[in-house]
Amino acid sequence: MGYFWIGTRRLEDWTDFATGHLGLQPVDRGGAVRAFRMDDRQQRVIFDGGLAEGETFFGWEVADAAALDALGARLERAGVAVTRESTAVADLRCAAVVISFHDPSGNRVEAFHGGRIADEPFRGVRPTGGFRAGAHGLGHAVLMVPDIAAALSFYRDLLGFQITDFMGPPVSLYFMHVNGRHHSLAIAQGSSSRMHHLLMEFYSLDDVGQSYDIAQQDERVVVKYGRHSNDFMTSFYMRTPGNFLIEHGWGGREVGTDWQPLELESVASFWGHQGLFESLGEAPPPPDAPHMPPANPNKAPLQVIEGNYQPMSGVCPWWDALKARR
Ligand SMILES: [Fe+2]
Repeated sequence: MGYFWIGTRRLEDWTDFATGHLGLQPVDRGGAVRAFRMDDRQQRVIFDGGLAEGETFFGWEVADAAALDALGARLERAGVAVTRESTAVADLRCAAVVISFHDPSGNRVEAFHGGRIADEPFRGVRPTGGFRAGAHGLGHAVLMVPDIAAALSFYRDLLGFQITDFMGPPVSLYFMHVNGRHHSLAIAQGSSSRMHHLLMEFYSLDDVGQSYDIAQQDERVVVKYGRHSNDFMTSFYMRTPGNFLIEHGWGGREVGTDWQPLELESVASFWGHQGLFESLGEAPPPPDAPHMPPANPNKAPLQVIEGNYQPMSGVCPWWDALKARR
């Protein structure tokens, strides 16, 4: 997931939200476009006053020009109309080449290669330890789609997303990956086509907690703090100036290239996340739907990276002795 483009007339509201709540870094673009950084890329999240309110699309990055050509040809062979965007559009996207098309729900989708890297390191307005984006892309999104079979064959068979885990009816939900991130896109059966949320992942758990404090002060919390049982993300969800939520999280698990799709027994979280099912806005779950907390499994090791943990004493006498000598 290279970039996320949002049409809005509320540029000031979004700017305040992106800097004060989300911890992003504004980039000067001029005109009716407000762009924001979250890592080494020149931009990741862009608000566009020239687009209709609520219109959103993602730019999916492929490896190189050959991969983009191959994707365009594969789409056209399947009967999908593909537009080769102008150099001006590619410049606006901070990319080398951009193509666009539509998914079966009618959502605009873009694909590109050659995303531009910034000269300066990322520095958000709100001081945080930064976002776990980079090679994992900017985050993940969950889309509600009216025809999940059509969406699945489009994203999996044509665009090449791979299924991480899934749940059959009555939930009908697929989590899909394109790199080490557990899922960059999830699609769920819904009564209409809409976006439920966008995830941004911090390096530091404390940054998520501080986001939670800020969101609570402004009464923005829609889904309370909790930990997901499939991607292990510790997170919460907040209301935005737009018509979708933003999830701030920490500690998402990775999937390897040998990952096999898993059928989920439950989508309930290990704990917390009260309000999640209600926020989907669909009919209430049937009586035999998964309940919270799930019976099994109900815990998993924390997913940590070098530098954001400290091993405690009391497990290994040798390690304890070594630390004492230091
Ligand atoms: Fe999520």
